[in-house]
Amino acid sequence: MPPDLRESWWIRDVEVPTRVVLAPMAGVSVQAFRRQGRRFGAGLVCSEMVSCAGIEHRNERTLGYLRVAGDEHPLAIQIFGSEPGAMAEAARMVAAAGADVVDMNFGCPVRKVTKTGAGAHLLDDPALACRITEAVASAVPVPVTVKMRRGVEDGSRACLELGPQLVEAGAAALALHPRSATQMYTGYADHSLTAELVERVDVPVIASGDITSHATAQAVLEATGADAVMVGRGAQGNPWALREIVFGDGAPPSREEVAAELIHFVRETVRELGERRASSFLKKFYGWYLGRGRFPRPFKNELVQLSSTDEVVTRLLAAAPGAGELVERIPLAADEVLLDGLPISIYGGG
Ligand SMILES: Cc1cc2nc3c(=O)[nH]c(=O)nc-3n(C[C@H](O)[C@H](O)[C@H](O)COP(=O)(O)O)c2cc1C
Repeated sequence: MPPDLRESWWIRDVEVPTRVVLAPMAGVSVQAFRRQGRRFGAGLVCSEMVSCAGIEHRNERTLGYLRVAGDEHPLAIQIFGSEPGAMAEAARMVAAAGADVVDMNFGCPVRKVTKTGAGAHLLDDPALACRITEAVASAVPVPVTVKMRRGVEDGSRACLELGPQLVEAGAAALALHPRSATQMYTGYADHSLTAELVERVDVPVIASGDITSHATAQAVLEATGADAVMVGRGAQGNPWALREIVFGDGAPPSREEVAAELIHFVRETVRELGERRASSFLKKFYGWYLGRGRFPRPFKNELVQLSSTDEVVTRLLAAAPGAGELVERIPLAADEVLLDGLPISIYGGG
């Protein structure tokens, strides 16, 4: 019997209400994306990777990533870096900002990150990876988790050696995306490694990679014994995929529903990032939402050309007039957490 995806599970003392986790994705996992993910059934949502150096230097844009809304919980904020002391300090800030879980990125394959000794580089440096994990786990009261790839080179099994050492060092759960760093996103995620990792550790394991439907989620949980699945690309512009994965409810959204979700997402993102940043950030989302045969292709091209998000909303309402009423029914943002007495939103806007 495959486990029920609607069931709750635990990362130490944090209860996660469903077995579906929304993946951390740089340039995607803004607060609006995470809140939407929770609304559509993800049990846990993650921020994109946040630079511990940026936190250390109180970089304004980086601190903007630490804004947490009341309806995001449980939420993991992911940090990356290579220096144990700086990672521990960043973790303290992240926990103070309201994260329920501090996640660490030991898998990013991008050279700009690995050349600093962070991300996937740590798969090749287990001693440093363990020192970072120990420092971070002893710095914060919340559970600390690690997200890894299988290893740096194709065919590597480094994650299987490293995983138990990270647990020994204090990791409360492990997420595995079983592609190598060299592979980037080519080939497929080899979840036979996820199954081996589950055998080797006594903490929850989250399976990441190529999970796009209720059927694949159930098959991966059953074949690996993992506690949860993580969904990334499948949820881009497609929160309905999360609903299908968690609840098996595959009813496709109407054009009105698609337009309403996109309008809400546009408005929330503008509130979060300010009009200028939001309007370039959002362009990739238009294709993600409007594709899949939902709207004709020229319509997406038209939205991308528009210079303000107000114009985008106007065009969407003209194309799907019923969306106006639906968008009013979507719950508005809950209060944000304060950091050192200041609303974190002051860092994020503009
Ligand atoms: C655009 C993009 C950005 C990503 N950024 C991060 C990140 O910041 N941190 C991280 O741990 N993984 C990141 N990933 C990897 C995903 O979390 C996930 O492990 C991977 O996409 C495989 O899952 P999927 O097949 O469901 O997309 C990113 C992936 C994509 C596509």
